[in-house]
Amino acid sequence: MRAAPPPLAADTTALSRLLGTALDALGEGARARGGPLPAGGPEAVARRVREALGEPLPETGRGPQEALRTLVRVLAEGAADPADPLCAAHLHTPPLALAAAADLAASALNPSMDSWDQAPAASALEAEVTAALAAEVFPGAGAPDALVTTGGTESNQLALLLARERHGDGLRTVVGAGAHHSFRRAAWLLGLPEPVVVPTPSGTMDPEALREALAGAGEGPVLVAATAGTTDEGLVDPLPEIAEVCAGARAELHVDAAYGGPVLFSRTHRRLLDGLDRARTVTVDLHKLGWQPAAAGLLAVRDAADLTVLGHTADYLNADDDTEAGLPDLLGRSLRTTRRPDVLKTAVTLRALGRTGLGALVDRCMDLAQDLADRVEKAPGLDLKDRPTLTTVLFRPSGATDEAVAAIRRTLLAEGRAVLGRAKADGRLWLKATLLNPHATPGDLDRILTLVEGSAHR
Ligand SMILES: Cc1ncc(COP(=O)(O)O)c(C=O)c1O
Repeated sequence: MRAAPPPLAADTTALSRLLGTALDALGEGARARGGPLPAGGPEAVARRVREALGEPLPETGRGPQEALRTLVRVLAEGAADPADPLCAAHLHTPPLALAAAADLAASALNPSMDSWDQAPAASALEAEVTAALAAEVFPGAGAPDALVTTGGTESNQLALLLARERHGDGLRTVVGAGAHHSFRRAAWLLGLPEPVVVPTPSGTMDPEALREALAGAGEGPVLVAATAGTTDEGLVDPLPEIAEVCAGARAELHVDAAYGGPVLFSRTHRRLLDGLDRARTVTVDLHKLGWQPAAAGLLAVRDAADLTVLGHTADYLNADDDTEAGLPDLLGRSLRTTRRPDVLKTAVTLRALGRTGLGALVDRCMDLAQDLADRVEKAPGLDLKDRPTLTTVLFRPSGATDEAVAAIRRTLLAEGRAVLGRAKADGRLWLKATLLNPHATPGDLDRILTLVEGSAHR
């Protein structure tokens, strides 16, 4: 007799039992780790994974409970856990429990956003939520819109693609030296010339330097990509002045606000993003300062008409007669075909917290960064690079060489004590703390500094 197939996610009783096992394994793994990341470095982690995994494709399966328990546990034990306040290297956010729960529901329902007949409600929800978020970025625009993406890399790539479609292969891209590396790759992928890089000795794009770069770029269409929240330092380019220079030079403006975009939710800090709405396109990631599990990227466009070039027909998904009969045509909302309903977790978060709740989370992380900067300034053996603009703090032991700074970071990683990032600025290497955990406490900030000071003196 043939065995019955395993239960489907639609069987919520079975799902709930398995979920219990997965949650227990998450807890056990985290307890076994006992810190922000596993001790022992890559070899020790890979060995534990190999041992737990055994044969990745066994002839006979071990059953769902054992498989979930074993592999979720080993993954949790070996995680760099952004929910631990000492895991603060990257724009790697601790996801909100409610967003993770919504993501599970999205997985269980598994709508695919490439055609209405696979995602009737999910596509309607995406249309509503993207319209609202686009209006948040472009409050004065007549017809703004936003696409859901896998993150800043895809959003920046789409922004370049849309600009190339408007202007052709002669399009030049101009970026600041602190711009994200995805612009270079996007230009390469799209067959565009390498971006022109404006030096940013102060960390942000100087409007005068941009004016000169545009004057030197020669004739032809130009897209300037400014940054609101640089990856290394969390700096925001002077957007109103840059927008003026772009207008004067008839250049288009894209703003990569992958990091800084959600500051729009904060009444206290949203002025940092003044001028954002003068861009034609804006990248925003909610899996950074928005506490969503990846992926939760957006590309907002000031004018929805800019998106028509993405229109595409595949008879099985959006035949003309289906579209004429009123079925929404979704294929032009992404370059992907099968696409997860990533909007559900975002919609749930927006509804649960509201603008005020999200803004309060932003404010908390901004305050933590100022607090950490104060503590660095007061520590006699540490140097602070600059007061933070967003939630990134660069610091280093006074008098340390770059090699020593790099070694401190690697030692803390190998010992599983802290995950700090690294950034080159002012020709020197700095330790980077990117504070995205609204539950972090002043005591956690002190622990970070104590660990660094301790490693520096070994
Ligand atoms: C400013 C900026 N833009 C774009 C990206 C790329 O985002 P993602 O990793 O979501 O593709 C990052 C990533 O850190 C970033 O800091």
